[in-house]
Amino acid sequence: MNNIFLQVAGGHTTDRKPVWLMRQAGRILPQYRSLRAKLSGFKELVKTPELACEVTLQPIDELGVDAAIIFSDILVVCEAMNLPYEMVEEKGPFFPKTVQSQRDVDQLRVADGTSDIAYTIEAIRLTKAALNNRVPLIGFAACPWTLFAYMIEGEGSKTFSKAKKMLYAQPEVSHQLMDMITKSTINYLKAQIEAGVDLVQIFDSWAGILSPQQYAIFALPYVKRICNAITEVPMTVFAKGAYFALEELGQLNCEVLGVDWNMQPNMVRQKVGTQKVLQGNLDPCLLYADRAFIKKETIKMLQAFGPTKHIVNLGHGVYKDTPLDNVKCFVDTVQAFDPHKEAIAVKV
Ligand code: CP3
Repeated sequence: MNNIFLQVAGGHTTDRKPVWLMRQAGRILPQYRSLRAKLSGFKELVKTPELACEVTLQPIDELGVDAAIIFSDILVVCEAMNLPYEMVEEKGPFFPKTVQSQRDVDQLRVADGTSDIAYTIEAIRLTKAALNNRVPLIGFAACPWTLFAYMIEGEGSKTFSKAKKMLYAQPEVSHQLMDMITKSTINYLKAQIEAGVDLVQIFDSWAGILSPQQYAIFALPYVKRICNAITEVPMTVFAKGAYFALEELGQLNCEVLGVDWNMQPNMVRQKVGTQKVLQGNLDPCLLYADRAFIKKETIKMLQAFGPTKHIVNLGHGVYKDTPLDNVKCFVDTVQAFDPHKEAIAVKV
């Protein structure tokens, strides 16, 4: 197996740095777009294990990245908790019913993660077999705050002010819901591990819109619980925008921390200490630039993280209309770079 992704996640030194992209399985690939066009919608793809498996493998074949991530969505956990979602074309997630009160929380249940998200668990089994150990497979879920944000707000938002209001106005109900999401997430991640994923990543996509105080009270303690519960495989925590909590994130019981494009690698390293592996962080928007510039900036980023303990990625998901050749330029630049010979980097 091309194992460098897991080797670096485990703190080992490798000849080159591993690379993959958040949202690599998706609309940047023509194969994805043509398959997707034949289906009723996103959910059909997520709920059909054979198709989810096919789409998971596409970026491995097309881009040659060093890890696969199972094709699914963070929102499957909401549905398993009895809050169904829709994926509206060109708009994003929409929840017909949302959570606003204790009564609404009482309608929810803790997901067992196995039977109620059986389609993704089956997709993981199929994908592990189809990968045949070419590269490791990443499983994932959301962090409780990010899922909570969708369950209250009912759709995407710039401010998530309804969800933040809930934290201030109904703190006890909020904690109760966070607790249910946390239990569901732990069950789901354990089911993914049982089905064969090699590492799990948890996404706190909306961490950065919380105040440091709200993050410390309503988000971090639940992330901590998940980290402590998952001991079977290495784990990545990606708390987007939570630069104010880097010291605390550095103390989590996880191997890898995601770094978004607003953060400077040396500053992150100073705050989290020397132990954690860092993952990131090229600005996804930079992949719209010309290829000479992409190459130059990618190399700068590779150097800024230092020779070891770095898994290369973007600072958030790749944008759907990014030219495929630019994505390939990014991946190829990383894979040709020798982190132990600064001279090569300086030459370019
Ligand atoms: O390649 C991969 O990263 C694996 C698959 C994956 C998807 N969603 C597929 C998807 C992963 C890891 C996710 C996680 C996810 N989903 C997050 C956390 C990461 C992040 O980006 O911050 C969030 C917040 C969601 C919620 C979500 N799902 C939104 C807001 C949207 C609509 C926005 C968009 O990009 O269109 C989705 C839909 C979605 N999830 C798509 C894909 C490939 C687009 C689907 C399509 O229309 O074909």
